[in-house]
Amino acid sequence: MTTVDLPLLPLGRGKDLSAERGVECPGDLPPASDPHLVARAEAAKAKLGSKVFVLGHHYQRDEVIQFADVTGDSFKLARDAAGRPDAEYIVFCGVHFMAESADILTSPDQKVILPDLAAGCSMADMARLAQVEDAWDALVDAGVADQVVPITYMNSSADIKAFCGKHDGAVCTSSNADVALEWAFAQKGPGAKVLFFPDQHLGRNTAVLKLGMSLDDCVVWNPLLPHGGLTDEQLRDAKMILWKGHCSVHGRFSADVVDDLRATIPGVKVLVHPECAHEVVLKADLVGSTEFIIKTIEAAEPGTSWAIGTELNLVQRLAKNHPDKQITFLDKTVCYCSTMNRIDLPHLVWALESLVDGTVVNRIEVDPETERWAKVALQRMLDLPGKSSRD
Ligand code: 13P
Ligand code: SF4
Repeated sequence: MTTVDLPLLPLGRGKDLSAERGVECPGDLPPASDPHLVARAEAAKAKLGSKVFVLGHHYQRDEVIQFADVTGDSFKLARDAAGRPDAEYIVFCGVHFMAESADILTSPDQKVILPDLAAGCSMADMARLAQVEDAWDALVDAGVADQVVPITYMNSSADIKAFCGKHDGAVCTSSNADVALEWAFAQKGPGAKVLFFPDQHLGRNTAVLKLGMSLDDCVVWNPLLPHGGLTDEQLRDAKMILWKGHCSVHGRFSADVVDDLRATIPGVKVLVHPECAHEVVLKADLVGSTEFIIKTIEAAEPGTSWAIGTELNLVQRLAKNHPDKQITFLDKTVCYCSTMNRIDLPHLVWALESLVDGTVVNRIEVDPETERWAKVALQRMLDLPGKSSRD
């Protein structure tokens, strides 16, 4: 086998100082150069006291994570938001669909704030309600809709979650996709099918590697093609109808790099998120949500080597917090989630100081009808047994 000398990014060694730091934002934000940003955030948070609850997804920058009251993957954060009915303000350091879920799961008096409204998710944008309704109409026309349970990944807009709520479906996250699929197939008995969106990779990896289906049981619905690019016969034969969506961050990891790393780092264990492509997951030693990845590294023996395929802020943090383990990023180049990175310290300071002044900025509010049905789908997820790899 040929060994290739790859310019892999060495982490936790102070060599990533020139990495991407997000995009400039106009407006009345404090400048990023303000040396008092940390002190300002501390002061604003202290003034707000228990009125504010700050949630931080694992992909957030360190400068933001330091102010999070809790950190977690999208499942844990949804549950944590629901568990703080006393907090008047929920400041969500994550992306738009997560803030929407927090709004749905909290009371109408609680206000959910996303410090930068540009923090969206390209994967969530790959499934629009009108497109999902067209796909459902095609399933009705093919005579199979009665056998189909729609399951949406948490990474989707509230109206898509509401669609699942209305059509006897549920939400899932990367922590519980296997349990959600088992639940879905049990709803309809023999002949059951799942319409899974927006992430084809999470759907395929879970169906094949956790539920023991074959790749032939899965078809891909392309919302940009007439009839999804599928025949009625294909829809009738499939068990998993996967939406053609993906994560632009996890889509970067390649099976070739796994091979190259195994050749250059003796004994390296490869640990990836299930949003990675199937061929990458097949070559990995372990696959799981961000909480699972953290838990695995925490439990690993000192001196062990790991190559991790997930967002770079988290991998860097793991490398920094575990200097006794060799942690390598599973990509040749920098790979932050640019929308997660929109939330930075200036935006957090701006949001917190505005609250101190009595102004609620960037509130995320889901309309009551959408909320009602999305809550049904989210609650079905929260009621699933053995929901999280951390439980
Ligand atoms: P989890 O938080 O479910 O691990 O998902 C990762 C992700 O891409 C969130 O946007
Ligand atoms: Fe969306 Fe991927 Fe970013 Fe998560 S990491 S917010 S799925 S683009």
